[in-house]
Amino acid sequence: MSIAPIELDRPERKAAAKLVFDGVSKRFGRGPDAVLAVARADAYVGEGEFLCIVGPSGCGKSTLLNIVAGFERPTAGEVRLDGRTVERPGAERGVVFQQGALFSWMTVLENVAFGPRARGQAAGAARDLAMTYLEMVGLAGFARRYPYELSGGMQQRVGIARALANDPAVLLMDEPFAALDQQTRELLQEEIKRIWRRTGKTVLWITHSIEEALFLATHLVVMTARPGRLKAAYAVGFDADADRNVTTSAAFTEAKREIVGLLRAESIEAQRQEGVGR
Ligand SMILES: Nc1ncnc2c1ncn2[C@@H]1O[C@H](COP(=O)(O)OP(=O)(O)O)[C@@H](O)[C@H]1O
Ligand SMILES: [Mg+2]
Repeated sequence: MSIAPIELDRPERKAAAKLVFDGVSKRFGRGPDAVLAVARADAYVGEGEFLCIVGPSGCGKSTLLNIVAGFERPTAGEVRLDGRTVERPGAERGVVFQQGALFSWMTVLENVAFGPRARGQAAGAARDLAMTYLEMVGLAGFARRYPYELSGGMQQRVGIARALANDPAVLLMDEPFAALDQQTRELLQEEIKRIWRRTGKTVLWITHSIEEALFLATHLVVMTARPGRLKAAYAVGFDADADRNVTTSAAFTEAKREIVGLLRAESIEAQRQEGVGR
């Protein structure tokens, strides 16, 4: 198993596409101060694919994800989910941020039940549903606690359960484990893999960690320095293996070396843009 280059906008991928990036560009501001954050992103993402996006800091990863979430509108092109143009946020797109997105005044259970309730489910049914997802993330015993009583890793588990409780068509994760320590992070990666297998969700996952991306992804995209373009994409073959040991295999190490090399060139360019070394 290893990685293989692939073009995500290949016409053959179109028929099975769940999520489509169609010439997506995003410019912030106008005139000489305008920042082109994303430049012509084209990709077909198939149902059940786990697409990881890596790229230098400030290259437009969050912007791209925020466009899918409906928080930002592209300045050109569009994103389509199940054939419909994304224009605003919606429950069929579940978002998990790096941290801090839980309602602090609600219990864990109330946080997870919030979406189903907002969509009109009866209180009892929403609670049952919330418990199902809390069990899935291993937090059934913490349903009555408040977010501040939980560790960062547990809060992220709640965030994941909350996103899943809406049964979204696609899960959008913006560096969800970036604030966690390495051990917690690895455990949660293994768990996310298990949950992804079980639910078959289509996932868009931004990460700084190449190892995390290779461990989780079915597909991996490396973005260029700003303006963010989809520089290279790979089909990744380590997703079937939930065993952490895969990350020390020769094939994994070789894949990692290749991606590190690609990303390094882009990070140097990103630093140059920021004026480092000037
Ligand atoms: N709301 C905004 N207004 C102006 N510029 C923005 C806004 N959001 C992001 N940017 C700029 O767009 C670029 C890409 O940002 P972002 O998508 O957050 O990068 P990443 O997530 O890859 O680190 C950066 O230069 C950032 O400063
Ligand atoms: Mg970001």
